[in-house]
Amino acid sequence: MENLIYLDNAATSYPKPEEVYTFMDSFYRDFGVNPGRSGYDLCMETGALVDQSRKMLADFFNGNDSNRLCFSYNSTDALNLVIFGMLKQGDHAITTTLEHNSVLRPLYHLSKLNGVEVDYIPFDTNGFADPDDFRRKIKANTRLVIINHASNVIGTVQPVEAIGRICRECGVALALDASQSAGKVPINIEQSHIDIVAITGHKSLLGPTGIGGLYVREGIDIRHTRAGGTGVRSAQRMHLDEYPYRLEYGTGNVVGIAGLHAGLNWIQEKGIEKLYDHEMKLTRMLTDGLKELDGVSLHCQDNLTDHISVISFNIDTLEALDAGTLLDGEYNIACRTGLHCAPLVHEQLGTAQNGGSVRMSIGPFNTEDDIKTAIEAVKEIVEFQKKK
Ligand SMILES: Cc1ncc(COP(=O)(O)O)c(C=O)c1O
Repeated sequence: MENLIYLDNAATSYPKPEEVYTFMDSFYRDFGVNPGRSGYDLCMETGALVDQSRKMLADFFNGNDSNRLCFSYNSTDALNLVIFGMLKQGDHAITTTLEHNSVLRPLYHLSKLNGVEVDYIPFDTNGFADPDDFRRKIKANTRLVIINHASNVIGTVQPVEAIGRICRECGVALALDASQSAGKVPINIEQSHIDIVAITGHKSLLGPTGIGGLYVREGIDIRHTRAGGTGVRSAQRMHLDEYPYRLEYGTGNVVGIAGLHAGLNWIQEKGIEKLYDHEMKLTRMLTDGLKELDGVSLHCQDNLTDHISVISFNIDTLEALDAGTLLDGEYNIACRTGLHCAPLVHEQLGTAQNGGSVRMSIGPFNTEDDIKTAIEAVKEIVEFQKKK
């Protein structure tokens, strides 16, 4: 859309790198058949792309066995496989108030219907969970710690290495919801003592919708909560135990895998640090500009350390939704308003009663001009509100 300023990259990245569009197109035209089902050339070629993509993603997280990278449809799907496949009656899980509903709702379901006990660690005034809080909450029946790596509301990146060390010492599995962080900040399974990483392809990995995945470290077993065709050992009655088939069911989103492959390739070619620096420079510019405005409350710490390019704010006299409508209607700025599927963050911030927050999230294709326009737009809205 012409002249659109897209600041909703936390919902999904847009646009995608040109290479993602062209590779998905050529994949479907040139060899887009069902992989792993037959031995003809096209099938082998498609299978090779899937295997190569598994390896790329496993390597990206420093996982040493690409077969333990399972494709899913998004991170919600991956997180459901983890939560329903690991917890059973009498188990205890620990999570944080920073979570997205893709973690909160499966946990609520299990606690309401299946006798799973859940503790929620709050974040501090800077937006971080304290690793020692996890240590204090771990008990004999704690099976899983599951945390949002980078908040989709306030953008803080949690101290995963310190939390991971505690989990490892206590023999509790750590699962990371890397929906917002994968592709923006490096994730190292070994160094950070992470047992499971869940990703979605369409956000910071710059791929299409409908593709995600999870990496499961050796020694961690997730029960089957689904069963079906895998294309392998079809006479076997029970769903396969070995990874990646254990957590893959039916024909996957192979064109999605192709797009994700191209997205990840693009990130690696550009360099994750360079992309991060670009986005954080713009994020600083945005927060510096908004801080100057009397009547705007920003929900982030001053120096933006351990942060991604996602920020939330409120215009004090305006419901979040109305601010978003003005930004869209008057300034052609696309951002998101509301609770962002993370209701506990707003309960803690006190923004729930204001209809949540306005969230601006920056991607690799945003420019300084986009940010200048966004600051000016918010400034005009604030001034207009004052005159009313
Ligand atoms: C932190 C976090 N977790 C999970 C999700 C769910 O992602 P998806 O809808 O792709 O499954 C999101 C999406 O906004 C998110 O921001």
